[in-house]
Amino acid sequence: MRIAIVGATGLVGQTFIKVLEEYHLNISELACFASSRSAGKTIHFNNQAIPVEVLDEHSFDRGFDYALFSAGGSISEKYAPIAAKAGCIVVDNSSQWRMDPSVPLVVPEINLNHVQANHGIIANPNCSTIQSVIPLNALKAWGLKRVVYTTYQAVSGSGQKGVDDLERNLKQLPSTFYPKNILHNVIPQIDVFLPNGDTKEERKMIDETRKILDLPNLSITATCVRVPVLNGHSVAINVELENDFDLNDILDALAKQEGIRLMRDAYPTPLDVSGQDAVFVGRVRRDDSIPNGLHLWVVADNIRKGAAANAVQIVQKLEEKRHVI
Ligand code: A2P
Repeated sequence: MRIAIVGATGLVGQTFIKVLEEYHLNISELACFASSRSAGKTIHFNNQAIPVEVLDEHSFDRGFDYALFSAGGSISEKYAPIAAKAGCIVVDNSSQWRMDPSVPLVVPEINLNHVQANHGIIANPNCSTIQSVIPLNALKAWGLKRVVYTTYQAVSGSGQKGVDDLERNLKQLPSTFYPKNILHNVIPQIDVFLPNGDTKEERKMIDETRKILDLPNLSITATCVRVPVLNGHSVAINVELENDFDLNDILDALAKQEGIRLMRDAYPTPLDVSGQDAVFVGRVRRDDSIPNGLHLWVVADNIRKGAAANAVQIVQKLEEKRHVI
């Protein structure tokens, strides 16, 4: 395979490269693109030093099989169609194309079947959404009636700018990216506010969950909070199911769901899961305040499963499918 990475110098971009190495995919060429700020830098992949190239309209002319994008929405808006037109399958980590009805929004454990042969752009979902829909997929058998998300999101989810702000605060310097200091604090705002009072991050979780699970009318709400954790998002998920359940059956279904590591007698935290690709689920318990209510505590590495690993798994599974066909 010939693969291009767009945003190769960023937090997710660098993790794309690490995950591609770890997964031992058959890669004959890896090209690394970033902005002119990175001209002259090199990136190491499988003991090769690869020069960073400045992205432009002709970057994809030499023909790649896949282009993995994580350089922000405006870069994806402009360059993902150029890459697709040049023949690449684009896996885009930005929110730019996610809700386009012609673009599949894919968590490979759930809905790889949404990808048709002619899809040029495939969207990688929002980080908190990916780790939330995998356990919800396991609960679909009982009927999802209502979902309430509350997130505790790490600064790495904002890219290098978020990590830099936490480090600035640790040196007693004020934030320059977040609206308030993040150290010793929690900020109930991720992305911009919408007219109804939700933030864009909350709206992404609602819309993307419905699209991935093929449940356009699912009753769902979210509150997204930035916390002073370096890496690893946590989501408290409260679910109301349509049908009565035996808690042991729920635990079995979660344990069987591809992508989940169920913790029956312990609970995961961001420090436990950082660096791993599974979605960790713990504290599965009844919510007795409503009929058929359930609580889950879900933690994952937002840069790996929430972004880079999910994208690389899409490539891996599409390649497996291509070889089987
Ligand atoms: P660069 O390092 O050259 O600025 P993060 O999300 O960690 O902040 O990373 C963002 C990524 O997107 C970086 O690789 C960054 O490259 C890249 N990027 C930002 N703006 C552009 C641009 N105009 N053209 C190409 N890549 C860009």
